[in-house]
Amino acid sequence: EDKIRYLSEEIKRLKKERRAVILSHVYQRPEVQEIADFVGDSLGLSQQAAKTDAEVIVFCGVHFMAESAAILSPDKIVLLPEIKAGCPMADMVTVEALRERKKEIPGATVVCYVNTSAAVKAESDVCCTSANAVKIVSSLPEDRPVLFIPDENLGQYVARQTGRKIHLWEGYCNTHDKLFAEDVLAAREAHPNALVLVHPECRPEVIDLADAVASTTGMIRFARESDAREFIVCTEAGILHQFRKQCPDKEFYLASDKLICPNMKATTLEKVHRALVTLEPRVTVPPEIRERALRSLERMLAVT
Ligand code: 13P
Ligand code: SF4
Repeated sequence: EDKIRYLSEEIKRLKKERRAVILSHVYQRPEVQEIADFVGDSLGLSQQAAKTDAEVIVFCGVHFMAESAAILSPDKIVLLPEIKAGCPMADMVTVEALRERKKEIPGATVVCYVNTSAAVKAESDVCCTSANAVKIVSSLPEDRPVLFIPDENLGQYVARQTGRKIHLWEGYCNTHDKLFAEDVLAAREAHPNALVLVHPECRPEVIDLADAVASTTGMIRFARESDAREFIVCTEAGILHQFRKQCPDKEFYLASDKLICPNMKATTLEKVHRALVTLEPRVTVPPEIRERALRSLERMLAVT
């Protein structure tokens, strides 16, 4: 407790000294979310990274998020306190594999989930997040095939919502993949009055049980605006901190205790503190990749 308080104070002091902004994903540890200037979903975090006038961005999230910040704000120092925090789903698509697949679907518009490397974004036409995927795909010309990478569950959900035929990739989030329909059914039996909130990275059988399918920020907005008092949460555990903070009079139950992303938990207050002291580890993107990846991100931000 004392250590958390001491580190949090030090981080706040250093942050001013360094002219830094701290961005945190909702899956981060509660004490990390508490020292952030902005806590949000992947879309909100990209928007913040694009518009901040800070000199240093401390990204409490995973590697692709820090890379997106470096693409959108190339003049800023972007720090990722735990440099090994990656996203296994992002690693499920490589530039080489994508080039091969593009040859098989001539003329395809490649929509890449933001959970991809900068190099893969550079090989794609437009980015999306779970918050805007349906909107992005709907905005695309109907006479060209769509290839959606790498999240198969999100791609399938978007295909259903838009009525478009979408070529899918065999990628998935191995945190959301641990949740099964039987877990949700058991939670619903224990809490019959609760609404089921599902992230679209979940398996289709779980999405089918949802009262609302949304990005993390979308789920929080839904819970805030809903008349319901209880919710079963089908996404990573870190979000409970924001739910309880933003809806203190409502109850939230995690659908399974397996919903923990180790990469999102790898960032600690100690590491954030060290990053602000040393201004390391930094995430940079080579200019030739950056320019092309920026086009994909800017096309997304223009539609959103
Ligand atoms: P959102 O916060 O955009 O919903 O993304 C979830 C996720 O898995 C990020 O890694
Ligand atoms: Fe990647 Fe899933 Fe972790 Fe998000 S929750 S960083 S998609 S593994």
